[in-house]
Amino acid sequence: MAEQLNAANIAYHRDDTPDISDAEYDRLRRRNTALEEAFPNLKRKDSPSEQVGAAVSDGFGKIQHVVRMLSLGNAFNDDDVFDFDARIRKYLSISADSPLAYTAEPKIDGLSLSLRYEQGQLIQAATRGDGTTGENVTANARTIADIPQSIAGAPDVLEVRGEVYMSHADFAALNERQAAAGGKTFANPRNAAAGSLRQLDPNITKERPLKFFAYAWGDLSAPLGETQSKAIERLANFGFSTNDLTQRCDGPDEMIAHYRMIEERRAALEYDIDGVVYKVDDLDLQRRLGFRSTTPRWAIAHKFPAELAWTQLEAIDIQVGRTGALSPVARLVPVTVGGVVVSNATLHNEDYIAGLGGDGNPIREGRDIRVGDWVQIYRAGDVIPKIKDVDLARRDESAVPYAFPTTCPECGSTAIREEGDAVRRCTGGIICPAQAVEKLKHFVSRGAFDIEGLGAKQVEQFFADEWVKTPADIFTLRARFGSGLQQLKNREGWGEKSANNLFDAIDDKRKIDLHRLIFSLGIRHVGDSSATLLANHYGSWSAFEAAMTRATVGDGAEWDDLVSIDGVGAVMATSLVTTMQQETERAQIDRLVSELEVHDAVAVSTESPVSGKIVVFTGTLERMTRAEAKSRAESLGAKVSGSVSSKTDILVAGPGAGSKAKKAADLGVETMDEDSWLALIGDA
Ligand code: IVH
Repeated sequence: MAEQLNAANIAYHRDDTPDISDAEYDRLRRRNTALEEAFPNLKRKDSPSEQVGAAVSDGFGKIQHVVRMLSLGNAFNDDDVFDFDARIRKYLSISADSPLAYTAEPKIDGLSLSLRYEQGQLIQAATRGDGTTGENVTANARTIADIPQSIAGAPDVLEVRGEVYMSHADFAALNERQAAAGGKTFANPRNAAAGSLRQLDPNITKERPLKFFAYAWGDLSAPLGETQSKAIERLANFGFSTNDLTQRCDGPDEMIAHYRMIEERRAALEYDIDGVVYKVDDLDLQRRLGFRSTTPRWAIAHKFPAELAWTQLEAIDIQVGRTGALSPVARLVPVTVGGVVVSNATLHNEDYIAGLGGDGNPIREGRDIRVGDWVQIYRAGDVIPKIKDVDLARRDESAVPYAFPTTCPECGSTAIREEGDAVRRCTGGIICPAQAVEKLKHFVSRGAFDIEGLGAKQVEQFFADEWVKTPADIFTLRARFGSGLQQLKNREGWGEKSANNLFDAIDDKRKIDLHRLIFSLGIRHVGDSSATLLANHYGSWSAFEAAMTRATVGDGAEWDDLVSIDGVGAVMATSLVTTMQQETERAQIDRLVSELEVHDAVAVSTESPVSGKIVVFTGTLERMTRAEAKSRAESLGAKVSGSVSSKTDILVAGPGAGSKAKKAADLGVETMDEDSWLALIGDA
């Protein structure tokens, strides 16, 4: 499924030709997310839920971004904007009555582009790609009139980032020309812009009326200014188009007022926008706030409300995910919402269908959803369509409340709801073919074992043939089917060479990094980044495995140590401990590990002087908050612990440090003040 989603992502983001409806996409995506939640160990490294876009296509050269191209978190209402401001103030320890400025500007619905200038000359243009690696579209970018070929007075190295887009008028004219010439027409200006920029022949791009707004930067040899506003002003002075609806605001009230103003003018703008982006204005504060895994803490996109449409609910299907979650999916009479045909929508869980929210309070004023009902569909920030409301006036008299299955539609096992869990789950565990196969798919996915030639399709085939039932079976394939190579090569799609290649590719992955192994296990709530945190914390499989085996949920040294990891909460910890102690599951894991050579974790950033070091912060920190100190240290590869032990490498002690400082002194642990720490990590 992740594979189907990735294919859809590629069709949409990379090839600019969506090949499935958004509804289908959302269905897949929702199911994928449900599965990932249920079986985090099966989550793929290339999981669509973690992706910023799609990997680059083969036609262009690849460019590694020096500074990653990220996406933005979303705000959907005014409260989210106030929360954003409050989060930032808390992180930076800025009181509610102190000033804190932001910029507010339209979120352009195009595609992002990074332009690299060296000594004032444009030398490279790259698309976002997956955020880390983009496509080299330099020749094409040179054809865009808004993009200067050379600039004066700029830093030696300057990467300008912004959005390539097409105006409504140009889009309409292009489609007319395309239709007249019998060529491909585009669904919307965004697709037209993307398709035009990604032409292998720059002469075609040249004929396409692309425009560019600069709104950010990447690699820089010298700062552009002290604030976002000043930096953008500088870009404008270099000759870039910047958006004239950009405004500096003194807090959420002004930001929201500016949002409303832009919203009112939206229809009259000559280009598509889908929200307003807020950014902390002070660049030093931006630097302190830093990034989460795929989004900056200092910016957010306030999205415009989703479009709505009414249609009829034809059926409710139940899909079973990797963790056994039964996910209801609405099959709809296809309807166009926001320019896309929608035929599926998520129904979340049985409470949602019955008219109950996650907090137990009524949603839709308690109206339930029944097969045959007229339902209102919306597409919110992400692409997955949802049901907003149901029209009781149009309900057929014969409609009956939906009876959510209490047995798994895939294996017939009882499906139960645990207390506090809105999701009903199949209890079949490994006997449930749906769970087993989804687990295997996760196992071979890109972030996990990523075995070349063994994708979702092949795993399904092997599972159906009963060749592979659990991950360990993959590694015994050659031994069991050495002669069975004969069998494999006689299968459709397999020849002797591909069969041999597969066995070799499997052997290649016997050596595996600890974080990949932990992620590949598909333990509920343990995603890619959590797996890395765990790997960095425990260092080796034996240490991880021993701690999980000895731990008791909710108490004891191993438990305390586990939940002390920044990013590991009680829910994930419980899931880890119970899974690792569940007999059948554990037997499978041990069998798998016996086939492997697990590489110990190496610290994240090997260049930093604190990489791999165990650091404890104590006392009052004066130049940063505790949260900030912790995430900064971790981003440099340090492990932050809550207590001093003989393993502690550095104690950073602020004023008022008490017993921890004494203990550190007793143990001979290096102790330094906040300033020395900042000097050590180069932040002084
Ligand atoms: S700032 C670190 N500003 O939205 C974040 N992005 O959802 C840098 N976008 O990838 C992005 N208009 O392609 C920023 N005024 C704007 C934008 C904008 C459109 C796009 C951009 C980004 C995506 C994130």
